[in-house]
Amino acid sequence: MVPRKAGTDWEILAPAKLNLYLKVLGKRSDGFHDLETLMVPVQLCDQLRWCPENSGRPVQTESCLLTVDSRALNPGPSLDSLNSSGNLVLQAAHLVAARIGRPPHGHFQLTKRIPLQAGLGGGSSDAAATLRLINACWKAGLAESELAQLAAELGSDVPFFLHSGPAICRGRGERISTTAGLPKLHFVLVKPSFGLATAQVFQEFSSSTEQTPNTKDNSTDRLTRLIGALQAGALSTASRWMTNCLESVAARIAPEILRIKHLLADAGCRGQLMTGSGSTLFGIARSARHARWIARQLSAQRVGTVLVTSTSW
Ligand code: C5P
Repeated sequence: MVPRKAGTDWEILAPAKLNLYLKVLGKRSDGFHDLETLMVPVQLCDQLRWCPENSGRPVQTESCLLTVDSRALNPGPSLDSLNSSGNLVLQAAHLVAARIGRPPHGHFQLTKRIPLQAGLGGGSSDAAATLRLINACWKAGLAESELAQLAAELGSDVPFFLHSGPAICRGRGERISTTAGLPKLHFVLVKPSFGLATAQVFQEFSSSTEQTPNTKDNSTDRLTRLIGALQAGALSTASRWMTNCLESVAARIAPEILRIKHLLADAGCRGQLMTGSGSTLFGIARSARHARWIARQLSAQRVGTVLVTSTSW
């Protein structure tokens, strides 16, 4: 995630993520959950551009503008939800402005390609990209530690995207450990026609009894085995250790999740799982070509949006 200058404008790519492993270790007193998760960034990405002007005219000082192009998304989200002041791009901009004591300014143009409410981290990645972009284009001069602190304020997954590269994330998601030696992985993604709200899935998880067996010791052991199998290129063994304890909760809200998971297995994936709090499922393929072949089989089955992507570091 490195900002690039283009004339007077700046631009940056904001990748999606997949959770190859996700355990909820318990509920915290602040209402969040303690997690242990392995996340990898992938090539599917949003694009964020900042320009000092809007159509040749300076954007009103003391304020910044956001426009969103979501034509690549199907079904298209409501533009209200993307353009509102709740958008994490604007939240990040205002947070930095408050931190450096200067008004926000300029025109942010966000091109959405990462589906929403999909467990792919699109909004969080946009927020991390905004922090990196602003630090360059506003010459904010924030240190890595300050950016990491702002990222954690913006959302649980934002620090992961700021970090770049595969990582184990613990705590709310903000305690990051780099994971080295993972090979390039190829994926087929299926985003059903519906999305799932993160808060609702966590709430369902809390009210279910499923959190009981998630002890930290078992979790870390299983995660170590998963990483070892991935490093050895043993995809079928790795898939035995892949898990997401939010998957069964999400499947109770939307049973279609399990049907899609079975379709991914039947289509020949080496392992398949829901990412994050859903609703997207991914399957691991042997190669980029294999991923495209599986995607063609699934596209004929009206499962939602089918995409292929690979890891991106
Ligand atoms: O941090 P973020 O805004 O992405 O979280 C969205 C919601 O997901 C939170 O309001 C919370 O309900 C839930 N969540 C959680 N524990 C986490 C991360 C998110 O309970 N570690």
